[in-house]
Amino acid sequence: MTTPIPATLIPGDGIGPEIMDATLEVLAALDAPFEWDTQVAGLAGVKACDNPLPTATLDSIRRTRLALKGPLETPSGGGYRSSNVRLREEFKLYANLRPAKTIVPGGRYDNIDLVVVRENNEGLYMGYEHFIAIDGNPHAVAISTGVNTHEGSRKLIEYAFEYAIAHGRKKITIVHKANIMKALTGIFLEAGRELYNEKYKGKIAFDDIIIDACSMKLVMNPWAFDVIVTTNLFGDILSDLVAGLVGGLGMAPGANIGTDAAIFEAVHGSAPDIAGKGIANPTALLLGAAMMLDHVKLDDKATRLRKAIDETLNIDKIRTGDLGGSANTKTFTQALVARLR
Ligand code: NAI
Repeated sequence: MTTPIPATLIPGDGIGPEIMDATLEVLAALDAPFEWDTQVAGLAGVKACDNPLPTATLDSIRRTRLALKGPLETPSGGGYRSSNVRLREEFKLYANLRPAKTIVPGGRYDNIDLVVVRENNEGLYMGYEHFIAIDGNPHAVAISTGVNTHEGSRKLIEYAFEYAIAHGRKKITIVHKANIMKALTGIFLEAGRELYNEKYKGKIAFDDIIIDACSMKLVMNPWAFDVIVTTNLFGDILSDLVAGLVGGLGMAPGANIGTDAAIFEAVHGSAPDIAGKGIANPTALLLGAAMMLDHVKLDDKATRLRKAIDETLNIDKIRTGDLGGSANTKTFTQALVARLR
């Protein structure tokens, strides 16, 4: 019998509970040995105990050091600070790993196999921002300060190099804007070049590109990239872009990795436009669960899960609406579970 693995479960907001139910059903069919401790955060936290990141949730992750999380809603403009960002800070989850791989062929792009490694704790996400009032207008001026450290950049880029080499990848590309933000993103590029020259020269190809050129090239010729390493905000934007290359947000998982804790999720948000309709694609969260199985070294289960997803989508041709199919969350999940039996 496999030893039970304690893990925190956060169903999330919007479509979160729908895709989490689907994922739990599939993990149960796989006999995944997770011992779930269910907690709330985001809007569900505010509703349950007036706190978007309750102490009980933090305590649970402090104990398990492992979580599967649905999307959490964050108000735009004012309101509480993102619980996602706070979780990444609290558990020092410095690397955000976001693979984008074609599963359903025949889309706009075929044979995409890219990984975005996003810095997760620094940059413009630190929330050092404020307004300055002028002439009675409280929002006359907005100021934001980004912070990137040499140590933080180096740690993240080293993670990316190690990941790339361990997974047989061919090239690392640092994405930056060091021509304009010479200090803020220059330090990131500098740390990458230094690390490459010190430790990785000859082991893997390495280049760099500015974010604007990278965006254009990702649309024109995404096959030119392999592993992209970049700062927090650029990584956020590029991971949605690369999700678009493989069929959209319904197909893109993410792992937030720290030295001694990890949180797995989908790249997408709570999708309020389709919440409660039962039509969300659970694949992104399921692929997040597959990354979680890899993380706890249950590689055989991760491989079975990925194979079953592939077969459900490509042999059974059961697909949700975002992929042009007519299945809903439930019928897709049932088909996937049938593949696992
Ligand atoms: P979103 O990612 O929730 O949705 C963007 C579009 O993609 C929508 O049209 C949505 O219906 C579609 N979509 C997303 N996931 C889908 C799925 N699994 N199946 C089918 N269609 C899907 O982005 P949006 O609307 O900008 O953000 C909504 C909320 O989510 C915000 O409060 C935001 O802060 C939060 N958010 C949370 C994230 C997280 O918890 N990691 C990440 C991104 C956003």
